[in-house]
Amino acid sequence: MLKGPYKRYEDLYIYGFKNSHKALRDLEEEDLIGYWEEDGIGVLFFHKEKDDLVKELITKYHLELDLKQRVKYSEWNEKRMPKPFEVGPFKVAPVWYEGKWDIVFDPSVVFGEGTHPTTSLMLESSWEFFQTFGLPQRVLDIGCGSGILTLLWSKLGSKVTAVDINPLCIKVTKHNLSLNGLSAEIIESDIKRLLPLKVDLVLANLYKGLLIDLFGLPSFWTSKYYLVSGFVITMEEELKQALTPFSCEILWRKERNSWVCWLIKNVTNC
Ligand SMILES: C[S@@+](CC[C@H](N)C(=O)[O-])C[C@H]1O[C@@H](n2cnc3c(N)ncnc32)[C@H](O)[C@@H]1O
Repeated sequence: MLKGPYKRYEDLYIYGFKNSHKALRDLEEEDLIGYWEEDGIGVLFFHKEKDDLVKELITKYHLELDLKQRVKYSEWNEKRMPKPFEVGPFKVAPVWYEGKWDIVFDPSVVFGEGTHPTTSLMLESSWEFFQTFGLPQRVLDIGCGSGILTLLWSKLGSKVTAVDINPLCIKVTKHNLSLNGLSAEIIESDIKRLLPLKVDLVLANLYKGLLIDLFGLPSFWTSKYYLVSGFVITMEEELKQALTPFSCEILWRKERNSWVCWLIKNVTNC
């Protein structure tokens, strides 16, 4: 995240490890952007080269360095440079843009900088859902990333629970909520360990494999509406097959650059 003298991202100095250590989650360092952890692998992101510090950490926590890379922020996230955008009446911008914004956010290095087709489909569909069905009291954001969807629904007035498996996403989402004076329940966990969670609307911009796993769990189908994305047209049939044992209706389908978003109604819980 941006802090201290850092007001925007320029170069990312990335140190990836073959393993991880929980102490890295609490690492405090002025040039640190954040610590990413997923599937037992840890990655440190800095604004500056930090070879000496990383050497110390390797010795202290028995880490195994896998890669060291310098990447321009403009090249990160498949070159999706965060920029201002609108959703419904809200003007949203990364923190380094000057101006009058309804929502600001620090995209950091996690997913959810707003420009990926799946995120923009989820944001637009969220607004359309709000206009069509009104405000859901409780919203569950599965895989919150930067917290961009959580920010929108919290701003609209829903009580949001945001879940992510990656501790950096949890830190970034908390930070982004505080930047906007908003609040939500934020949980670091694999979603499969938390289910069932009954809410009015579930947001799930995930990858196909996880969606298929979740679709197959009765404990996933305890809510009424589900906005899902994270898959392309060629994956749709397989995902539909995974839905069939349950009584679900796809109320609408949106598509952008081959990416798809569905609004699913769970008929059994109506
Ligand atoms: C595609 S990003 C979506 C980010 C944001 N919600 C958006 O729409 O732009 C998916 C997120 O799901 C998280 N994730 C992956 N597997 C997960 C799991 N089993 N439980 C919880 N979160 C998970 C990832 O860490 C990542 O932040």
